[in-house]
Amino acid sequence: MKLTIIGGGPGGYIAAIRAAQLGAEVTLIEKNAMGGTCLNVGCIPTKALLHAADLYQQIKNDAKRNGIVAEDVHIDFEVMQKRKAAVVKQLVSGVTGLMKAYGIKVVKGAAKFKTADTVIVTGEETTEITSDKVIIASGSVPSVVPIPGHDLAGVVDSTGALEFEEIPESLCVIGGGVIGVEMAQMFQRLGTKVTIVEMLPDILTNLDEDVTAVIKKAMKRAKTEILLETKVECIEKSEGSLVVHVADKEGKAQEIEAEKILLCVGRRPATEELGLDILGIATEKNKILVDENYQTNIENVYAIGDCIGGIMLAHVASAEGISAVEKIMGVESDIDFETVPSCIYTCPELSSVGLTEKQALHQGLDYEVGTFPLAANGKSLIAGETSGLAKIIADKESGAILGVHMAGPGATELIAEGALAIHKKATVRDLMATIHAHPSVGESLQEAAHAVFGNALNM
Ligand code: FAD
Ligand code: NAI
Repeated sequence: MKLTIIGGGPGGYIAAIRAAQLGAEVTLIEKNAMGGTCLNVGCIPTKALLHAADLYQQIKNDAKRNGIVAEDVHIDFEVMQKRKAAVVKQLVSGVTGLMKAYGIKVVKGAAKFKTADTVIVTGEETTEITSDKVIIASGSVPSVVPIPGHDLAGVVDSTGALEFEEIPESLCVIGGGVIGVEMAQMFQRLGTKVTIVEMLPDILTNLDEDVTAVIKKAMKRAKTEILLETKVECIEKSEGSLVVHVADKEGKAQEIEAEKILLCVGRRPATEELGLDILGIATEKNKILVDENYQTNIENVYAIGDCIGGIMLAHVASAEGISAVEKIMGVESDIDFETVPSCIYTCPELSSVGLTEKQALHQGLDYEVGTFPLAANGKSLIAGETSGLAKIIADKESGAILGVHMAGPGATELIAEGALAIHKKATVRDLMATIHAHPSVGESLQEAAHAVFGNALNM
């Protein structure tokens, strides 16, 4: 089987490895650096800077009360950026190494379909690649909203914000989604005055409201202004800075002055350059339409990851890549796409898997909720992060775990337990019967399970 993969992000490169493992002859085409959005301008660089901002806050605020004297604590942003770049470089070269190790041929350049089985690659030279099947994994790019002034100097997208040479004094974040909240907190913790403008009644609307409340409180405590149900009218240049003109739902106008503006209002599939129209590949709002096998309306062409829309996360892109390849190669594929953890790498960390309480309510389910505050969890107290919680939504009759939501230290790691529990159709009794180590933040999940029956032990 000759397989061509367009795009070397977490969707494409993982698909390439799985295909090589199953015996396919794989060519991967990438026009930029290997690793895609995730490694180069997404998951990894944001988390590297978030980690640095967290470290700075810990040394500045927590060291002293732990008996550690750290004097003249200040930021060298150039070094911080270099460290971020070094982490990215190491991971990108790791992916390049993996391609070699698996005998995957990497072709550098931009791919465009000529026919269903032939792709033209334009790079330093132009080549044509013919194969039995093609998987498109071309990812996504930031959405642009036609706000007047969106193209002014100083208005950036997430990629631009990762490349700042200096920490801005003030930042206006347009869009209170995942990128907006992570970036807002990161810059606030580095000393920037941050305002978030969100058009909906809440930020992070995909999370459980109790979890969102925790981060909103933390951000407000840190003096980040969050303007909800607020529309951006336009952005204008003012002397030495920018002004965002907004209006709330009553139409009351406000001006936000900021040195930089971050536009993060979602991402759209990157499908325009692929020549999809040449083959008549069906799309909807740039999304490539696929069936349950990731097959497009053209028999030998498949698509996975951000370019098909859906949940735009790296782990989803990789899982879809594996699943598509296994289906193409005729191998049983059993990935559970119903159970996708979602993590926000703020302080406290936030995580979620399964149904939120609102979703359970809207679906008319008969459910119970167990919540345990981390103020009563020893490990959280030691870490100095007690504002969070663990929350479990369970089916009232069977006790089956339907949703797990966390805010607190290690929440992005612990959510794997919730994902496995839901995948294995575990009940709150299973969680209660599983001994959790002490002291650990994980105990709060077990306590939340007890709390479903009103029997939390340390509360
Ligand atoms: P991409 O990673 O976008 O890769 C697509 C690749 O295809 C790119 O390298 C591109 O250059 C290449 N390509 C496109 N067109 C062509 C062409 N015609 N020819 C050749 N090559 C082409 N997700 C998480 O799960 N966790 C996070 O913490 C997280 N943080 C994020 C932070 C930010 C700031 C951003 C922007 C995103 C974040 N994401 C996160 C989302 C995550 O990065 C994406 O969901 C993921 O990268 C999608 O993988 P993909 O392989 O589908 O596409
Ligand atoms: P998003 O969809 O998460 O949030 C966009 C927000 O902007 C929404 O709340 C929306 O209501 C708001 N918005 C849209 N237009 C607006 C306007 N004109 N004015 C004010 N607000 C407006 O998209 P985001 O944050 O850009 O992230 C893109 C993708 O990247 C997401 O799909 C996410 O999954 C992924 N990502 C994941 C991360 C993680 O897993 N930790 C981190 C960062 C990004």
